[in-house]
Amino acid sequence: LLVDKGNHRHFMAKEIYEQPETISHTLSHYLDMASESIALREALPFDFDDLTRLTISACGTAYYAGCIGKYWFERYARLPVDIDVASEFRYREPPLEKNGLSLFISQSGETADTLAALRYCAGQGQHIASLINTLESTIARESQVVFPILCGPEIGVASTKAFTAQLVSLASIAIAAGRARGALTPEAERKLVQALIGLPRAVSQALQAEEQIIEIARHLSRAQDVLYLGRGPMFPVAMEGALKLKEISYIHAEGYAAGELKHGPIALIDEDMPVIVVAPSDELVEKTLSNMQEVAARGGRIILITDEEGVKTVGHNVAETILMPRVDSFVAPIVATIPVQLLAYHTAVAMGTDVDQPRNLAKSVTVE
Ligand code: G6P
Repeated sequence: LLVDKGNHRHFMAKEIYEQPETISHTLSHYLDMASESIALREALPFDFDDLTRLTISACGTAYYAGCIGKYWFERYARLPVDIDVASEFRYREPPLEKNGLSLFISQSGETADTLAALRYCAGQGQHIASLINTLESTIARESQVVFPILCGPEIGVASTKAFTAQLVSLASIAIAAGRARGALTPEAERKLVQALIGLPRAVSQALQAEEQIIEIARHLSRAQDVLYLGRGPMFPVAMEGALKLKEISYIHAEGYAAGELKHGPIALIDEDMPVIVVAPSDELVEKTLSNMQEVAARGGRIILITDEEGVKTVGHNVAETILMPRVDSFVAPIVATIPVQLLAYHTAVAMGTDVDQPRNLAKSVTVE
């Protein structure tokens, strides 16, 4: 193996801790530092301004990255977005509009369902783009344009640094699309770019919550089920957090849109059910507060991930608060990913599972 664990016990820990550097590296590809603006180096076979729709397909963690990308492309580029897991998309055979862009997100570039979705879209005359880590891969080869995520080899089966690199790439492409479509004023664009530039530092700060997270993880390791809640782009962060936990600790976990709590999962809440709420301060945080009150009223144990501003609004009646640095809401999903990765990692360590090689899972799923 060309890569080693350095001072870390597991590749997953190493890859979590590498993120300030990997994010800088990804950013340096998409950013023109001199003008502090996004400058896509890839030759595009389409014009963002002419696109009718963006259709994203992916599996697993890459799918959750795409779910966050949907919020960004809709909000900042005013581009309609559809997203589905590739295994559903490929058999739905959805009708696709002319001048649509299909985007495939895959760390390995070899996932069978994602590749099949790509071939379907190519057959439908869509523009084909992919967001890839392993550039010598089948999905990269069959794409008209490949956006690299550049996070280096990822060894841990549970994806961490590839996820944040996918997010940084998607955020950058969304800004480029927003500019091309006239959806962003120069000031708005500058503000988003500044937020991206501040990310490596914010992620380093987020990693400093580790000691506290180790304590929380000791409690979590005794839970049977864990619920993760979030709104807006924090909803996919909640789903990714739940996926990480189940993958490596084997504890049942679900990520839910906070607003859906009363449509089902609230029935599960009791003193034994930890509820992880991902709610940095943004325009939706007040809405999340009412969901937290519903959880607290039923004795649920809330672990809140927020920032100092958020504490003022939602920091009451919670068992634990994990503080994140305050960042622009644009990049907050990337920062909020760090504590959910650390929670899953330390819960698995507390349980003594095989963190880098969890049972039944493969790093790359090349069969259907
Ligand atoms: C497997 C891996 C996941 C990954 C998913 C998609 O399930 O264990 O970590 O998110 O495949 O893989 P890809 O290489 O297409 O991103």
